[in-house]
Amino acid sequence: MSADVVEVTSVVKRVLDGRERRTVLDGVSFSLARGDMAVVRGPSGSGKTTLLAIVGAMLTPTSGEVRLDGEPTSRLREAHRAEVRRRKVGFLFQDLQLIDAMTAVENVTLPRVPDGLTHADVARAQELLERLGVGALASSLAKALSGGERQRVALARAMMNDPLLLVLDEPTAHLDDERAADVASRIEELGGEGRAVLVSTHDPRLTSRLSAARFFELAGGRLHERDAKAGDATSGDAKAADATSGDATSGDATSGAP
Ligand SMILES: Nc1ncnc2c1ncn2[C@@H]1O[C@H](COP(=O)(O)OP(=O)(O)OP(=O)(O)O)[C@@H](O)[C@H]1O
Ligand SMILES: [Mg+2]
Repeated sequence: MSADVVEVTSVVKRVLDGRERRTVLDGVSFSLARGDMAVVRGPSGSGKTTLLAIVGAMLTPTSGEVRLDGEPTSRLREAHRAEVRRRKVGFLFQDLQLIDAMTAVENVTLPRVPDGLTHADVARAQELLERLGVGALASSLAKALSGGERQRVALARAMMNDPLLLVLDEPTAHLDDERAADVASRIEELGGEGRAVLVSTHDPRLTSRLSAARFFELAGGRLHERDAKAGDATSGDAKAADATSGDATSGDATSGAP
């Protein structure tokens, strides 16, 4: 049993690129504990979205293992994996994936629909939208919103189930400077709430704010954790995994759905 929120071991992902098989992730290992905020950086095409999708149980690795709150999501059948994902993961997609024909508040409450929507759910969605500065747009159709407004609605949706693991793929990509600073400080707060947060970004407006974060670089299919003090990349896979494995005090790994 482990107190880690996620434990990623030797993950390899190969994809078919036309006729060629390409290795996008080539033996990635790391783990995140409650309260951890991790930032993954890397050039376009380096595999950040692929890694986040695997960690968030959206996608399975070609080999290797992912454990989410102790459950081996990489080995579960899709229906079971989807259930674990829905209960434990909040995901902000790089392309947002809002449903245009639904209102902002309907988009935010979507993760609650399988359990049957309650008035409390709608009130929570409204509150999340307000905290992100788009409360007045709750009844607007998603298709009528600006890029920055859509991004904040998608962030509210990722928070709807109060997830143990929050995965944010380029969360400031569509924001102007003022909104990016705003969203960056919200993300910083979200990390302090007993969950793990995994963020991919190229955006210095975001990374400069996340002073408490662990920084990882993805290049050539390998993930390296940057040593915050030394300021350069350590050859990180195993070390990154070790860094949290000694800490068994940070919560109950067996706790189930809220
Ligand atoms: N299902 C797939 N089929 C074929 N190729 C894929 C698939 N998924 C990802 N790839 C390829 O894997 C590589 C990594 O893609 P990914 O989207 O993870 O990169 P990224 O680091 O998120 O890039 P960006 O910064 O542009 O978002 C790319 O070359 C992409 O074309
Ligand atoms: Mg991406």
